[in-house]
Amino acid sequence: MPASFRNMSLVPRVLFGIGTFDQLNSVLLSHRRNARAPFVFLVDDVFTQRHDIVQKIPCSYDDQIIFVSTIEEPTTIQVDDLVQQIILNYQELPSGVIGIGGGSVMDLAKAVALLLTNKGGASDYQGWDLVQSPGVYSLGIPTISGTGAEVSRTAVLKGPEMKLGINSDFTPFDQVILDPELTLDVPKNQWFYTGMDCFIHCVESLNGTFLNAFSQVHGEKAMALCENVFLNSKLTTLEKSEQLMMASWLGGVSIANSQVGIVHALSYGLSFVKGIKHGLGNCMAIEHLETYYPEGTKMYRKMKDSHQIDIPSGVCEHLSEREYQQMTKIALSLNPLWENALGRNWKSVVNEKVVRELYEKM
Ligand SMILES: [Fe+2]
Repeated sequence: MPASFRNMSLVPRVLFGIGTFDQLNSVLLSHRRNARAPFVFLVDDVFTQRHDIVQKIPCSYDDQIIFVSTIEEPTTIQVDDLVQQIILNYQELPSGVIGIGGGSVMDLAKAVALLLTNKGGASDYQGWDLVQSPGVYSLGIPTISGTGAEVSRTAVLKGPEMKLGINSDFTPFDQVILDPELTLDVPKNQWFYTGMDCFIHCVESLNGTFLNAFSQVHGEKAMALCENVFLNSKLTTLEKSEQLMMASWLGGVSIANSQVGIVHALSYGLSFVKGIKHGLGNCMAIEHLETYYPEGTKMYRKMKDSHQIDIPSGVCEHLSEREYQQMTKIALSLNPLWENALGRNWKSVVNEKVVRELYEKM
């Protein structure tokens, strides 16, 4: 059991349904403070050429669309640069920050909204409950499903020393718009890797020592939806999009009230040292964790085989000693994740040698 029960903050307003993206303008209307306080739209640059989506972004007055690259996972420096750019451009704080994109853009938007009102740099707030003040109004519109970033109380960033989230009660969005239509054009591999992020959230939550009835009911439903999306060939594409979007949400709520586990700890190390993106890193890790998550690993393989997805192997083959040490250090530094997976005495079961041996298999 965790030391105390978490008084959890969740996203207060959610708009769900096909075509709800068209309601963005009406949602924003009441949040514009004045004509000099703009809305800043952070948009995944894969949409640069998608005029159908960009034209629907309701820009007026001095509102600005900033396209952000998501080739790399978001960094604390990227957040600091965006905050600086926004502060220099306007006389007033923005009326709000709106993120349109995948998990990386969700995390960037949440972090930028917080750093506009909290002094210092983004890396100062990586950790648990370090944020002191609410950010500006923030709104998230996911365009891929699985990360749970649209509902989570974290904004995961690569910092100078760590990949670590800004975890706080001020981090969740004020509003989320879930429009399954926006996720229809995601490339197959990315759809699978990100969908597996959700499935793995459920595996880690449901098999964790922090599990409680709240996280269990959300995790069980999310897991059932994932299995349906990835194994039921009778579903239409739109049904799959709807169900995976709901799975992502429920899986995110489940881990918000419990914690992730070993897959995520290992994936964070892979991401920091090798730049492997989160969903793929999770897939690489769970491949070798049947000892810890036997049922989850088995189901993951079934879904992977059913969609004929290849997961790269040998990525750690040519790592230097220093890189191995760095990767292992990052993975082992994530105490709550290991404690959730293995209990308070996790250090008696897992050490540098164990973690390194797992990385050597990847
Ligand atoms: Fe995740």
